[in-house]
Amino acid sequence: MSQPNPVHVRVPAKINLHLAVGPLRGDGFHELSTVFQAISLYDEITAWHDDTLSLTMEGEGTGELAHDDSNLVIRAARALASHARVPAAARLHLRKQIPLAAGLAGGSADAAATLVACDALWDTRLSGHELASIAATLGSDVPFLIRGGTALGIGRGEAVKAIPHRPTTWYWVLAIADSGLSTPDVYAELDRLRAETAATPRTRPSLPAKLLVALRERDPAMLAAALGNDLQPAALSLRPDLARTLSAGQAAGALASIIAGSGPTCVFLARDAVHSNQLANKLAAEACHDVRIARGPVPGARSTV
Ligand code: C5P
Repeated sequence: MSQPNPVHVRVPAKINLHLAVGPLRGDGFHELSTVFQAISLYDEITAWHDDTLSLTMEGEGTGELAHDDSNLVIRAARALASHARVPAAARLHLRKQIPLAAGLAGGSADAAATLVACDALWDTRLSGHELASIAATLGSDVPFLIRGGTALGIGRGEAVKAIPHRPTTWYWVLAIADSGLSTPDVYAELDRLRAETAATPRTRPSLPAKLLVALRERDPAMLAAALGNDLQPAALSLRPDLARTLSAGQAAGALASIIAGSGPTCVFLARDAVHSNQLANKLAAEACHDVRIARGPVPGARSTV
């Protein structure tokens, strides 16, 4: 029996605590070793039964998104329907808070939420493994966003593995830029910079031993010292203004400042909840027009009704 009521799914954004980028592979992707963390900045999908597949959208950046088959929400619904051999028929509504092209995997989050919502609406009951394999066809970050938490991503990021950890909450402040960066452009810029300096790695990127210890020890100062992002020089090369935002975070007392994924969002680590409020207020007053506080880790795409 398919679910008669609408299904409502909430999905988080992600940041990368560690992003080591290896060589460019034959398929156009780079080999990665990354530590993802899902954070409390959410998009929502609501799905109703209908005779055809349709999508409406509201919120952050949705005016710039297509309603057709190029939209990741529509692609995710069709991919699930085709895998499960059911008609792709649903009315979907997307509410966005995660900014577009911000390095926070907003599009991948919407695909993850759609898979979880349609699986429930159509009662297709796919296994976690099946959902993850459909997710991987939609984008490198989609499998992680179904799962959430803090996890290791290898391959092109789609192969997600649990990280043993003790429960804790980390506090982050995000400075959202007023225009986005294209992920392929940032990877291409990294390749260009590496070719210029003959710094292209030949081997697989290594696992972040120090970061894993910091997470296990739940030590913010240790975590601050272990954060790293190989895409940061490329994002800064394309958007030199981001260096000012990163410095403003340091000056405001952040434990660490880092670019989120391919950017341009800048992420600042706070000591605790009080410190995150102080940091956010300082950044909003001095440097950045759109500042948000988020905590992590949080669960991945989950039904909320
Ligand atoms: O998988 P996703 O759709 O997020 O990837 C967007 C683009 O980012 C890819 O087309 C590729 O240019 C780049 N990318 C990459 N290596 C990865 C992940 C993404 O080069 N591991």
